[in-house]
Amino acid sequence: MAESFSLLEGAREEMYGDLMPQWEALCTSEPDRVAVLANTAAMLRQGFGFFWVGFYVVDYSKEPLELVLGPFQGDVACTRIGYGKGVCGAAWAEKRTQLVPDVEAFPGHIACSALSRSEIVVPILKDGEVVAVLDVDSDKLANFSETDVEGLTQLCTRLAAWF
Ligand code: SME
Repeated sequence: MAESFSLLEGAREEMYGDLMPQWEALCTSEPDRVAVLANTAAMLRQGFGFFWVGFYVVDYSKEPLELVLGPFQGDVACTRIGYGKGVCGAAWAEKRTQLVPDVEAFPGHIACSALSRSEIVVPILKDGEVVAVLDVDSDKLANFSETDVEGLTQLCTRLAAWF
């Protein structure tokens, strides 16, 4: 079946409000984690026009643990990120969202693309531990706010069910 998806043009808060029922309709009955993460990344990129949207998932297969690239939409990205490294590794180590208005001002930022200017990384927590992070990059400076923190946290809270 072909899936149709679009978001109302408007304030970003309204766009997240428009996103959630469409995300639920597409994802909540799907048991496969990769399918759900892939379509979540696609909805965020297509709906909001973000430069890069994707997941890094904790790889428990070997020590030391690392984040490994999961489903994403956008340019080719780095495959593995160490604990505490970059914005994603900081979200993992600190177990909290990183809102970065200017990536050049974030010590240790990992530049997968020179075009990325601002970034938000939200951890997915399962039983109090980070199991993955959602990374969203923009090619505009300061393109994320508390509205994005709220909207993306709502999604990540729901996504914990697939881990
Ligand atoms: N900038 C991220 C790396 C991942 S890419 O942006 C896709 C970081 O510093 O962790």
